Amino acid sequence: MTILVTGGAGYIGSHAVRQLRAEGRDVVVLDSLERGDRDALLGAPFVQGDISDSSLVAEVCREHGVDSVIHFAAYKSVGESMTDPAKYWRNNVQGTVDLLEGMLAADVRRIVFSSSAAVYGNPDSLPIREDAPLRTENVYAETKAVMERVIHWYGQTHGVRWASLRYFNAAGASSDGVLGENWDMSTNLLPLVMKAALGASGPVKVFGDDYPTPDGTGVRDYIHVEDLAIAHSKAIEHLDAGRESITLNLGTGRGVSVMEIIRATENTLGRAVPYQVVDRRLGDPATVYADSRLANSVLDWRAKKGLLEIVDSLIRRYNEHREQHESTES
Ligand code: WQD
Repeated sequence: MTILVTGGAGYIGSHAVRQLRAEGRDVVVLDSLERGDRDALLGAPFVQGDISDSSLVAEVCREHGVDSVIHFAAYKSVGESMTDPAKYWRNNVQGTVDLLEGMLAADVRRIVFSSSAAVYGNPDSLPIREDAPLRTENVYAETKAVMERVIHWYGQTHGVRWASLRYFNAAGASSDGVLGENWDMSTNLLPLVMKAALGASGPVKVFGDDYPTPDGTGVRDYIHVEDLAIAHSKAIEHLDAGRESITLNLGTGRGVSVMEIIRATENTLGRAVPYQVVDRRLGDPATVYADSRLANSVLDWRAKKGLLEIVDSLIRRYNEHREQHESTES
């Protein structure tokens, strides 16, 4: 039976699609390509369209024999969500309702949802467990929390079974450099460090070095995108086996600081990464990292890659991309 992957032309979605196909699963991708990259599909069956079109969702599910959905399609910029909130409420929340209605019309009742550790905001205690209070501090994070609740209630009212996966900081690229995120669109730390390291931008700005952390800079739980992809396949298996709906943290359980990332990049590249310490970014917690023991046990999954694999994969991605770029330019 086939898995419908919404947003499968995006950063994490495209890695999940590749992983599922490598395991011999049938997939079909629904993506508007508004922010996705058609090349990232690597030939996967694809329908261009929007999750808000419930009749299209139902038609795709029927035509492809879909029995479960992995839902990645959403806007994810914290800054944009605060300047244009309506866009986020409509696309992320209403879009999820429309997707679910399309699924029900085709009698599809299993969904793995791409949630985020952003729902925890600034945590009271560490590591963060799934029963920690939700403390959303921006519209993007709030839409993820609301999407979780919408899916939960479709479970209560329509028998949908679900797995909501709260990612900590997704990072890295495919180990062979073939897939990766669009560095021009990302405001996340790793792409910005890589651009500064490779001379594609000015110095990376370090948002504060006066936090109560070992070296004063912000600490996060960076999880390799290929580890995330495997977790999604395991979550589909969990639902296929008829097991309970569940919310799971996906992280490594280890915190890494901004300076540790800069130093690891310098050591790998053998050159200095230009950086400049500036004021803290409003709303940034000092330290965030996951308690992922529930995912470890329920999914029989654990993150296998660490910071060095993340940095190595990004450098390989850049080199692959540059050769392609130069070959198209020449
Ligand atoms: C990481 C660390 C910054 C940029 C966000 C979203 C979250 C999730 C992941 C989608 C922090 C520091 C960053 C820079 C810096 N996205 N930093 N200079 O804020 O932990 O989480 O992305 O689900 O929802 O909130 O990620 O990469 O922005 O920051 O010093 O130019 O790097 O202060 O300590 P964040 P990030």
